This record gives sequence, C-alpha cells and structure tokens, in this order.
Amino acid sequence: MSKPHWRPAHASDLPAISAIAARLHPDLPERPEVFMEKMQLYPPGCRVLVAEDAIAGYGLAHPWKLHRIPPLDGFLERLPENAECLYVHDVAVLPDRRGGVARDYVAGIAELAPASGIATLALVSVYATRPLWEHLGFRAVTADGDLRAKLACYGEGATYMLHDLAAT
Ligand SMILES: CC(C)(COP(=O)(O)OP(=O)(O)OC[C@H]1O[C@@H](n2cnc3c(N)ncnc32)[C@H](O)[C@@H]1OP(=O)(O)O)[C@@H](O)C(=O)NCCC(=O)NCCS
Repeated sequence: MSKPHWRPAHASDLPAISAIAARLHPDLPERPEVFMEKMQLYPPGCRVLVAEDAIAGYGLAHPWKLHRIPPLDGFLERLPENAECLYVHDVAVLPDRRGGVARDYVAGIAELAPASGIATLALVSVYATRPLWEHLGFRAVTADGDLRAKLACYGEGATYMLHDLAAT
C-alpha cells in the first residue's frame, strides 16, 4: 500500500467528503453546501487524503477570530478581515488510513499561517480527541459563557483548543 497523501480539495470531492463526514460524525451532521462554502472561501486550508486513488479523509480549515466558534452546519458567509487564527473545522480520516495523517495535515496548515500574519491554530476537539490534539501541540482553553454555549452544539466534552505556532 502506498502512503496516503494530502492534496487540495476540489468541488468534485464533495460527495466523498460528505460520505466520510456522515460516517464519522453521524451525531454532528453538516450539509454539503456548508463544506463547499469553506472550500470556496479558503481553498488552501481544504484538503483531502488520497490513498490508493480513493479519498480516505478530509481536513477543512479557514482564517477566523480567536475565541470564536463558527456554528456547526452554519455558513461562514465571509472570512474576517483581521483574522487571528487558522481555525481547523475538522479533520476526519477513515479508520484503516489513520496513523500520522492528522499530524501531516496540521503541519501543512501551520505552513500557511505566517503568510497571513497568523501565529495560532484553533479547533474544537470532539469525542475523546483532546489528548491527541494536545500531543500535536494544542492546549485546552477555558471557555467563557458565550464560548461555552457555542461549544454545546458540538456535543458533551467539546473543548476549544489553541496551538501557539511561535512556541514550536
Ligand atoms: C482525529 C484523526 C483524524 C486522527 O488521525 P490520525 O492519523 O490517527 O492522527 P495522527 O497519527 O496523525 O496524530 C495523532 C498523534 O497523536 C497521538 N495520539 C493518538 N491518540 C492519542 C491519545 N489518546 N493520547 C495521546 N496521543 C495520542 C498519535 O500517537 C500521534 O502521535 P505521533 O505522530 O507522535 O505518533 C482520526 O482519529 C479521525 O478521523 N477521527 C474521527 C474524526 C474525529 O474525531 N476528528 C476530530 C475532530 S476534532
């Protein structure tokens, strides 16, 4: 088996992205149009994992404000003018293709940040992925009331996390 690799996502990848999202995030459904909007607003952050000519995962990220969480299944409408972080909306990979690929995706997104004057990555950790993100350099941030309310739509245990790129 050849090593899976990340490449930029294209509009034609949308059915595969939606199918993987539905399989891996059955309790956090999002419409294909919502994925598509992110791909249109920030193509460099939106990638698919290719393994044996098939799509085995996706990663979606876009510039955003710190301590702000876009609503699940909601449109961004536009990117902020003075973005403060690259927000990793999701990374999802089919089980048999995991192992080193989230690390590669995060490294690729981190490379985009300096050109935009950004020094921080952000994400919402769901399920039990917090230790995994900590291992990759993210730290949990205590959520204030507003942030806590927004985290609630990502399910119990959802945690807002930041990765200070200057510290790595
Ligand atoms: C999240 C996901 C993409 C990770 O993919 P992956 O290929 O297994 O991740 P990687 O191996 O690149 O990176 C994980 C790193 O954390 C480590 N890790 C994994 N689980 C860990 C844990 N519980 N505690 C500490 N470290 C952990 C891995 O060993 C690896 O480190 P290494 O590169 O030093 O060996 C995959 O598990 C997935 O698709 N999950 C379902 C969807 C999901 O929950 N997405 C996240 C939404 S926030």
